[in-house]
Amino acid sequence: MSRRPSMLDQISRSHSGSGVRRGSIDPSRLVPMDKLSVESLCRRAELGFDRVTAAGGSLGNDFNVVFVGAGNIMFGSDEGPWNHSFRFEHKLGPRLKVVALIDPAVDRATAVLQKKCDTFVKSAYENTRVFRTLDDFVKNMSRKDMPRAFVVGSPPMFRGTTQPGRDIERQILKHFPGVALFIEKPIATGPSGEIEEAFKLAKYISDSGAVCSVGYMLRYLKAVQMMKQILEENNLTVMATVARYATAYEAIAKPDWWDKARSAGPIVEQGTHFCDLSRYFGGDVDISTVSAHSLEWYENAGQLSKMQVDETAIPPENRIPRVTAATWKYESGAVGSFTHLVALQGHDYSCELEVYADGYQLKLVNPYVQPVLYIRRPGSDLEETHRFADDDPFFSEISVLIDNIEDIEEDPETAQILCTFEDACKSYQLTWAIREASERSRNIKKETVPAA
Ligand SMILES: NC(=O)c1ccc[n+]([C@@H]2O[C@H](COP(=O)([O-])OP(=O)(O)OC[C@H]3O[C@@H](n4cnc5c(N)ncnc54)[C@H](O)[C@@H]3O)[C@@H](O)[C@H]2O)c1
Repeated sequence: MSRRPSMLDQISRSHSGSGVRRGSIDPSRLVPMDKLSVESLCRRAELGFDRVTAAGGSLGNDFNVVFVGAGNIMFGSDEGPWNHSFRFEHKLGPRLKVVALIDPAVDRATAVLQKKCDTFVKSAYENTRVFRTLDDFVKNMSRKDMPRAFVVGSPPMFRGTTQPGRDIERQILKHFPGVALFIEKPIATGPSGEIEEAFKLAKYISDSGAVCSVGYMLRYLKAVQMMKQILEENNLTVMATVARYATAYEAIAKPDWWDKARSAGPIVEQGTHFCDLSRYFGGDVDISTVSAHSLEWYENAGQLSKMQVDETAIPPENRIPRVTAATWKYESGAVGSFTHLVALQGHDYSCELEVYADGYQLKLVNPYVQPVLYIRRPGSDLEETHRFADDDPFFSEISVLIDNIEDIEEDPETAQILCTFEDACKSYQLTWAIREASERSRNIKKETVPAA
């Protein structure tokens, strides 16, 4: 049976003018997690997770998954709502079998597995084996471990290139041709000179025919899909995107995040979500038009009083800007702008994206915590307000991935993967262009940067 075309196929088809599917999902088809919760299913049926498996049949066959990285994105943390293992458990229920957890930090990996085995989801993890590397897994796996998907949540400096040790995607596809991939954002954080390698990798992945999704989960928000629906149904052309991302810096205690040498800086590491969302509405960016300015750590206005890390331990040239403001032209002619701020204290970020088209303002507010969409339409000066209770884009992106992997019948109704590797490369490229434009514009003499 032939595999349904990947989103990349569809994107390239739509670029060539013969596209059959849109890169969006009817928002009413984004099913909340509790509607599928196996925990509630088990409770209702008065069965344990294992006994539902034992009851067998109706829930289908095991679904083998390999997790790469045993960190926060995979198993959750206090810093945010991300936690892929939790979404896989809810999507697949007792079918989920995590056959391997690959992480050089073996103790951390073992500890998170032990925690899982102490809960009702034990059957997904009781046979999980920990490996330091992919090669170790390949050497030691048995036939019954054959994975249907790899979920890659290792740090981006170890992936997104074609170089040995930093090419996990290529290694996975070499050993498991056609296996599905879920890759976290950003797709890399190496020097900007390596961006071309990322595009080569995107071609390699698309040529392989593998289902591949990149973790720009904001695309899966119901509010975002409603914005897309309004634009499509009214045949609108986006004129401008205006994005603002103000981070609550007091809550960021990870030293790497404050060090450009380790995280590539706040635009590449964090602002990437909003650069990607801007591109989702505005389309491809003419990278040569990107311009930007920054407020730097050594300028008077850039002094922060509530930093949780010791910035003096970071070399001056690697310290991050407090504000970065960029503008660019999309290839459509539309204009994009993005301001990233390291300015707020407390815990919650303040983030907004406005999309303008003839007669319309679509304003998305607070997409991370409690998304609200304000819409102004032709014929009225008033704003409509739409709220989206219990929307979980992390669940929707995993749910759509699994549906695509299992959709061997090529059901035209199956929701589309919304971010391919190639698309994610373009967002990565935009973030680097913004960082470099802001660094070029600093116009400071090196000696004005205070020494450590
Ligand atoms: N979509 C989101 O909102 C979101 C949220 C959090 C993190 N992320 C992304 O997820 C990725 C991981 O972030 P995190 O917060 O989980 O980091 P983390 O530091 O908590 O965990 C990373 C884990 O990967 C392991 N690791 C290191 N090298 C490895 C290798 N070569 N192979 C396998 N594992 C390796 C580390 O030992 C660690 O356990 C980053 O790209 C980050 O940007 C995305």
